[in-house]
Amino acid sequence: MKIFLETYGCQMNVSDSGKIVYLFAGQGYQPTTDSKTADLIVINTCSVREKPELKIFSALGRYIPLKRKRPELVIAVGGCVAQQWGDKLIKRCPGLDIVFGTHQLDILPDLVSQVRQSRKAVALTDFQERPGGMEVMPAPAAEAVNAMVTIMQGCDNFCSYCIVPYVRGREYSRPHAAILEEIRRLAQLGIKEVMLLGQNVNSYGRKEKGEINFAELLAKVHEISGIERIRFTTSHPQDMSEALIFAFAELPKLSPYLHLPLQAGSDAVLARMGRGYTAADYLEKVRRLRRAVPEIALTTDIIVGFPGESEADFQETLAMLEKVRYDQIYSFKYSIRPGTRAAGFADIIADEEKRERLARCQALQDKISQEILAAQVGRRAKVLVTGASKRGAGEWSGRTPENRIVNFRASEDTRSGDLLPVKIVAALKHSLKGEVVG
Ligand code: SAH
Ligand code: SF4
Ligand code: F3S
Repeated sequence: MKIFLETYGCQMNVSDSGKIVYLFAGQGYQPTTDSKTADLIVINTCSVREKPELKIFSALGRYIPLKRKRPELVIAVGGCVAQQWGDKLIKRCPGLDIVFGTHQLDILPDLVSQVRQSRKAVALTDFQERPGGMEVMPAPAAEAVNAMVTIMQGCDNFCSYCIVPYVRGREYSRPHAAILEEIRRLAQLGIKEVMLLGQNVNSYGRKEKGEINFAELLAKVHEISGIERIRFTTSHPQDMSEALIFAFAELPKLSPYLHLPLQAGSDAVLARMGRGYTAADYLEKVRRLRRAVPEIALTTDIIVGFPGESEADFQETLAMLEKVRYDQIYSFKYSIRPGTRAAGFADIIADEEKRERLARCQALQDKISQEILAAQVGRRAKVLVTGASKRGAGEWSGRTPENRIVNFRASEDTRSGDLLPVKIVAALKHSLKGEVVG
């Protein structure tokens, strides 16, 4: 039997897709990249903006007709669009067999068996007290150097523009003992770097009685031998504690790299977004972080064209890019999400204006990113080898502690997972070129 899987959205979805493949491997399914020969097609969806949400309908338009030639084919849609639409998706897309929500990942194999017998479509999207699938622990691929580990799911922040709390449910933190056990096992299997995942990792453990907090969790992960680097995403600036800033200074395995979503530079816009901090609060956290770890690399998320964002407001976002100097940003045009508070806000910004602001924002950031990469030339870094470079010919690819991509030549006995001293010799558009030094 063969499973074809298509994934949209954030790292949480990428991680969930890995779990799905693992669950079905236990049932004798091999992954395939050819949808035409698949016995099972699973689409893991994202609804954070309108564009990714619409992709699911064109995907189903491609896959449902395959059933004419292969009537035994089962098609399932999961993830955040599935959660939002529920059984309405089955009504809208005849031929779709299964809709499973963000808390139903673990029971997907049962749903597939059920549908194979009954040939009746099912939709299951109820939120559980503990989201199903949190304890599924896939084995890493033989060559893998890094692995994602889910530590929590859901979000209680309800930023006014965001659909995530509605489609992922309330915040739930996985017991720390289970997280540590999973990471110990990954280390034994050769994993060198773990990425801890959650929509709002800074509030880890806050709701669970007697649970440790995020900074304490990091300290415990740090003790696991074999793990060389620790990263995490996503951090909400509002919940970034002093203890976490201190952890960056105290824990050498914690990468000097942080994704810290800003969203906007104007206090009026931040207040309407419900973010709970001002631009000055944010800059103060950045200042403290850089005092603890001067070389820390920051990345962020930006939304342009939020309702009521004036040209002056937008200028304040640009000013923040200049002040913070991020390595990279992920910037988006504001997209109305049905059911969120901001969907009712007045003063909608025209798409034309949003596009123009996005282009200005990205042009400024491209310049800053280039300057930051150029400033690395001549420096030395310990590079974690992640694999052979795409260019081949004895070239390897790796990451600096600040998560910058470096390509370099190295001897034939180099292996993924090696930590090599590399001198940076050139800066390209999105990466660095290096030379191994003795
Ligand atoms: N939990 C994370 C990420 C959530 S979604 C966080 O709090 O940062 C990832 C990014 O998508 C957000 O940071 C935001 O920049 C963007 N996003 C969310 N809703 C959006 C919307 N309605 N329109 C445009 N971008 C949005
Ligand atoms: Fe969305 Fe805000 Fe929660 Fe992030 S913190 S997932 S932006 S509601
Ligand atoms: Fe998208 Fe859901 Fe992630 S909406 S960004 S896949 S949590």
